[in-house]
Amino acid sequence: MSFIADRLNRIKPSPSSMATQRARALKAEGHDVVGLTSGEPDFDTPPNVIEAVVRAMAASKTKYTDIGGTPELKAAIRQKFARENGLVYDQSEVIASTGGKQLIFNTLMSTVQAGVEVIVPAPYYVSYPDIVLLAGGKPVPVICPPDKGFKLQPHDLERAITPATKWLILNAPNNPSGAVYTRNELRALADVLLRHPHVWIMSDDIYEHVLYDNRVFYTIAQVEPELKSRTITINGVSKAYAMTGWRIGYAGAPSELIKAITKLQSQSTSNPSSIGQAAALEALTGPQDFIPERKAIFQNRRDKIVALLNEIPGITCHLPEGAFYVFPSCAGVLGKKTPQGSIINTDEDFVMYLLDSEKLAAVHGSAYGSTPFFRFSFATKMEVLEEGCARLARACAKLT
Ligand SMILES: Cc1ncc(COP(=O)(O)O)c(C=O)c1O
Repeated sequence: MSFIADRLNRIKPSPSSMATQRARALKAEGHDVVGLTSGEPDFDTPPNVIEAVVRAMAASKTKYTDIGGTPELKAAIRQKFARENGLVYDQSEVIASTGGKQLIFNTLMSTVQAGVEVIVPAPYYVSYPDIVLLAGGKPVPVICPPDKGFKLQPHDLERAITPATKWLILNAPNNPSGAVYTRNELRALADVLLRHPHVWIMSDDIYEHVLYDNRVFYTIAQVEPELKSRTITINGVSKAYAMTGWRIGYAGAPSELIKAITKLQSQSTSNPSSIGQAAALEALTGPQDFIPERKAIFQNRRDKIVALLNEIPGITCHLPEGAFYVFPSCAGVLGKKTPQGSIINTDEDFVMYLLDSEKLAAVHGSAYGSTPFFRFSFATKMEVLEEGCARLARACAKLT
């Protein structure tokens, strides 16, 4: 019997984290790498949050807390959901965890087992299918094509639902496509879901505040309140507040599910870091005015990078409506030959060629369940984006 448990063989390391690590390793070896893989804002934690954390440490807020978060943080989470999403939760219906990712993990581990299907619209956040597999369930990818804005279509959802379906995972603004649903589009998905009361919905709203062109954010339990009793709404401070390292995510859901997640958390990480919680409390209750300022910076970068990408022969890029990624198609370079004589057959070949030839790091689309695409993050300085696009153009020009 092998030392490593079988369940671990069902999953792979997160491809986006691996690509980031590969770029970091090349940099450490002295290579001039342009890394566009990282899914975190390049801004600093807001100063009011840092000050609040210093105060919390001085006040010895450095001990274990309640497993699901301090009463103060839970109250702030409830206020956030009510204020921004029109969702009213009881104290027993919210939880804080070690990042949004732990909530995805805990929710799926608490509810998925052999025989359970989870619908995952593709392109998807890399962790969803692997966590489903780890839990013993079956991820059911549903392709959302670029000509439909990479959005799940109601008839495709209807077709994917079976008696074994337990979850639909919705993520918008989407990583990696940037797709955002309008209220009407969510309404149409909700209409399908109302016809299938055995299906629960995980709404991953982590990019809620990274939304362009004056779009308004909606989440499914807000659009159809009848779905709230079978929805978990997941959010966190990583993306909106540039607080990825503090590791605080939170969720609202029926108390039965929150209880199960808390039980699992009690036997794994216990409470999320007390200092991280103090930071998240200040982030959620303090000034919010830097959010639109940062959004405007992201939007400028988006406009620039999309324009640069669309000038490159072989590359076509749609305009993301939110989040800080572009997900261009590289269909136009497939079948071409590199100067070393190898053929670019897949998006993964293309991304490896970019790294080898130009020291340009990206993530291949197949990691997100969609081909032939690649993901660039534009959560980095404009000069870096321009240099990345120049290297991409050079790499494409060398293909024959
Ligand atoms: C769609 C999506 N959900 C969840 C997460 C996890 O975020 P965190 O665990 O930092 O809160 C990420 C991070 O990249 C993401 O892209």
